[in-house]
Amino acid sequence: MNNILTLHGPNLNWLGKREPEVYGSGTLEELDRLLEVTAGELGIEIKIFQSNHEGALIDRIYQEASWAEGILINPGAFTHYSYALRDALAGVGLPVVEVHLSNIHQREEFRHQSVIAPIAAGQIMGFGFESYLLGLRALKKLL
Ligand code: DQA
Repeated sequence: MNNILTLHGPNLNWLGKREPEVYGSGTLEELDRLLEVTAGELGIEIKIFQSNHEGALIDRIYQEASWAEGILINPGAFTHYSYALRDALAGVGLPVVEVHLSNIHQREEFRHQSVIAPIAAGQIMGFGFESYLLGLRALKKLL
């Protein structure tokens, strides 16, 4: 068994209703259920947390730092500018896999940069919910 913390950043609570042409019609609850099923198959114990607040995500990283062996994160828009989130992830020193539903490089210029990527083991994007499931597998392989 490996313990993995999964974090969803801002606005991902609105999945299914939010720009479905970009993010798909599945809800966060559906995504979380898929993650739980896949985690079970992979021998992973998973904790999942979503917040629209940068500080709440950071607090959760520290709260779970001794439980978690790796972090799967879709930082949402924080991807592009949150040095605080990046520093927290770097600070706990756990392997991080960054995931995105959309391909951020096909979108607006401001989305092309990730301040998280340099401290992540890898980045998976563009495959909708599958990005998370691939990310979970990749993280498992690292552990
Ligand atoms: C996102 C991409 C980000 O640019 C955006 O702000 C999101 C979602 C994605 O999963 O494609 O909120 O991280």
